Amino acid sequence: MTSEEAKKRLCLALDVNRLSDAVRLVEILRDRITLFKIGFQLFTKEGPGAVQAVQSLGGRVFLDLKYHDIPNTVAAAAREAVNMGVYMFNVHASGGSDMMRAAVEAAASQSQKNNTTMPVILAVTVLTSLNDRILTDELNIKNQLSHQVTHLAALAKGCGLGGVVASPQEITAIRERCGHGFTILTPGIRPPCIIKDKDEDDQKRTATPAQAIRLGADYIVVGRPILKADDPAEAADKIVRDMTSGY
Ligand code: C5P
Repeated sequence: MTSEEAKKRLCLALDVNRLSDAVRLVEILRDRITLFKIGFQLFTKEGPGAVQAVQSLGGRVFLDLKYHDIPNTVAAAAREAVNMGVYMFNVHASGGSDMMRAAVEAAASQSQKNNTTMPVILAVTVLTSLNDRILTDELNIKNQLSHQVTHLAALAKGCGLGGVVASPQEITAIRERCGHGFTILTPGIRPPCIIKDKDEDDQKRTATPAQAIRLGADYIVVGRPILKADDPAEAADKIVRDMTSGY
């Protein structure tokens, strides 16, 4: 993989709460990173203005709001995501097939109406903060976690979604079940050369950029290893180099 391809497949999690901080990061990094994830924190604080700010600096936006509601409500949110011109957004697969289909149909018809490219819609399968015990004891789901992940990934694919958010450990099984052409975006990336505060890090099941790419991730999402680096541009360069070595 060339470094230009790697740059397109690196996504920065803009986990900051001030628009000015987000803008500064995009300005510093936009030559190295073209996809920026806006999640609950920044969107709750700054709203659609954060999306517009990133786009006006030339960045593509992954709107990580994990929609999970009745089909009509998720369809309405999907139309607004299209109107904002986001490149990618996500929904919870556990919202069911009617909800996922409603999101896909709404996004497709709104994109056609606006004459814009339809966003990639990803599914969240099982949150990586859950484990087998929580799944069985609390949620009363009898499936093993790994089976639940591939089951929901296949369900999402059947509903026309473009891919899933998956931990490094899940990539191989999802690829086997859902095939190529189904996007896998992977957080939990920890380049060993960069991470500080290793003991304080809450990501448990991690992979390096090279490992994630080798396993078959289409995109990797990186937050703190870049956000907390003394030199975020240098950190991004190291990650891109690692990605290219993984292929
Ligand atoms: O700072 P870090 O690199 O851990 O950031 C990873 C980003 O990916 C965060 O925005 C986090 O919310 C998100 N994420 C994750 N694990 C998931 C899904 C999303 O870490 N399973």
